[in-house]
Amino acid sequence: MNSAQIAHRFDFYTATHKGQRRRIFGFAGMVGTTDFADPDQVDAVGEELRNIKRMVLTHAQHETEIIHPFLQKKFPKEAEFLDGEHIDLQTSFIELEAYFDDITSDPCDLMQCRLFGREFYRALQRFIARYLDHMDEEERTMMHLWQSCSIDELKEVVADLRASMSAEEEQEELRIMLPALTPFERVKLYRVLKLGVDDDRYRRAWELAESLLEPAEFARLKSEMASIEATAPAE
Ligand SMILES: [Fe+2]
Repeated sequence: MNSAQIAHRFDFYTATHKGQRRRIFGFAGMVGTTDFADPDQVDAVGEELRNIKRMVLTHAQHETEIIHPFLQKKFPKEAEFLDGEHIDLQTSFIELEAYFDDITSDPCDLMQCRLFGREFYRALQRFIARYLDHMDEEERTMMHLWQSCSIDELKEVVADLRASMSAEEEQEELRIMLPALTPFERVKLYRVLKLGVDDDRYRRAWELAESLLEPAEFARLKSEMASIEATAPAE
C-alpha cells in the first residue's frame, strides 16, 4: 500500500456523513407520508426531529472543536467558512423547529394541521439541501488535506476525534454509520477503532456490529478483520 492510499484511511468525514445522509433521507421519507392531523404520527416526527438535531449538532460541535483548529493551520479561510456554516446550521435548525411548532403549539383543525405539515415538509427539504451542500464542502476539504498533510498529522486528528466522544456518543454514531457503509468501509472503521479506543469500548463497538449487521455482513467483517490482523497486526 503506498502512502497516498494509507492517507485515505484517515478520513474525517465520509463514514459519518454517509450515516447522517441515510438517517436524514429516511426522515424525509417519513415526513412525506405523515398525516399531520394524527397526533401519534406528529409525536413520532417530533421525536425523530429531536434525534436528528442531536446528531447534526453534536457532530458539528466535534468538528468545530477538533477539526477546525487543525484546519486553521492548513487552510484558514476554509476553517473560517466552515465555522460560519456551523453557526448558520444552528439557525437553520431553529427555523425548522419553528415550522414544526406551528403544528403542535396552537390547536388547529384538521386542514390547518395538514397545511402546517406541508410547510414543515418543505422547510425540511430546504434544510436538507443546505446540509448536503455543507457536507460536500467538508468532503472537498478532506481531499485538500490528503494532499497537504502527513499521515501522522491525519492520524492524530482522527485519534483526537475518537477521544473527544463519550462512549455513548460513539455507540450512537456507530448505530447511525454501520448500516450506511460498504463492507470495505466497515473494516476501515473497525481498524481505526481497534487502534484508537480502549478494550472495553472496542468490545462494545464489536457487540454493536454483531447486533446491527446481517449475519453474513458481520461474518464478512469478522473474517476480513482477522485476515488483516494476521498480516499487519501493528499497522
Ligand atoms: Fe460540519
